[in-house]
Amino acid sequence: DLSVLLNPRNMASSEEMYLLYHGLLLPKETHSPESLKFAREYTFTDSDVLAVTYPKSGTIWMQEILPLLLNGGDLTPIHTIPNWDRTPWLEETRLALVVDQLASPRALVSHLPYHLMPPSFLASKAKVIYVMRNPKDVMVSSYYFHQMAGFLHDPGTFEEFMESFLEGRVLFGKWTDHVKSWKHTELGDRILYITYEEMVQELPAALRRMSDFLGRNLSEEVIQKIAENCSFETMKTNTMSNFSLIPKVLMDDNKSPFLRKGMVGDWKNHFSAEQLTRFISVISKELENESFSLPWSLD
Ligand code: A3P
Repeated sequence: DLSVLLNPRNMASSEEMYLLYHGLLLPKETHSPESLKFAREYTFTDSDVLAVTYPKSGTIWMQEILPLLLNGGDLTPIHTIPNWDRTPWLEETRLALVVDQLASPRALVSHLPYHLMPPSFLASKAKVIYVMRNPKDVMVSSYYFHQMAGFLHDPGTFEEFMESFLEGRVLFGKWTDHVKSWKHTELGDRILYITYEEMVQELPAALRRMSDFLGRNLSEEVIQKIAENCSFETMKTNTMSNFSLIPKVLMDDNKSPFLRKGMVGDWKNHFSAEQLTRFISVISKELENESFSLPWSLD
């Protein structure tokens, strides 16, 4: 029942905008029962590479990075193919349309929690890079994304949006559930955890970690070239990656650009002291019995 997940004042549009998949809210603009079935039946091969993120944690950044790591730094894909077709989302409608044209090895992204991954993924040796971002910055990024994306509901005030975020009445559910699901896997050395923050701090070092994990032996020169072409500034001007090809009714960069700030700690410009206390207490409580610790302090 979508009314449980959305604020009552958004109910008029919620049925039109979202579908519910195993309790998760997904936008109908990009997801359908058919696309979810297609994802379920997708056949992973051992050479496939998947970047998994909770929304607003660096997904389109990985759509830029993965093809270049896998092809040794050839810029053709990032200059000629829009990100959503170049490194498609496993669960979105575009995958079925482009699956036969994907470069090999195939690179995909996904926001799905671990328990909704298709059986073929579990049976394969496909590698995963899980990118985690500080949830306070994720929430701020998502708040602006809701303002610019015509296919998402109006987030209301920052205070209201924070409550939705903490209760999981947002895309792909609760941040803590997503992180927990991907922290408890049987994947062993098939999964690499990386943070948005370490990518911002020193992209070449993060790229080196990823390329080593993927068994790519890239020269320092190639790593530098990839870092330059995946910088925030470069991506902001790349029409294949900044969503400027999307009609304004769906994504309006006059309201807020998709590549908005690309920084660590923008939450400090948005949270009141009370909001911070409440946010930290809810998130810490949900993680208190976990065997893993977060890569940053929450306060
Ligand atoms: P901000 O809104 O904080 O700027 P996703 O792709 O998962 O939706 O995440 C979007 C967030 O990643 C946005 O954060 C966007 O600016 C940021 N981002 C995308 N590419 C980036 C890059 N090259 N460097 C830093 N941040 C980037």
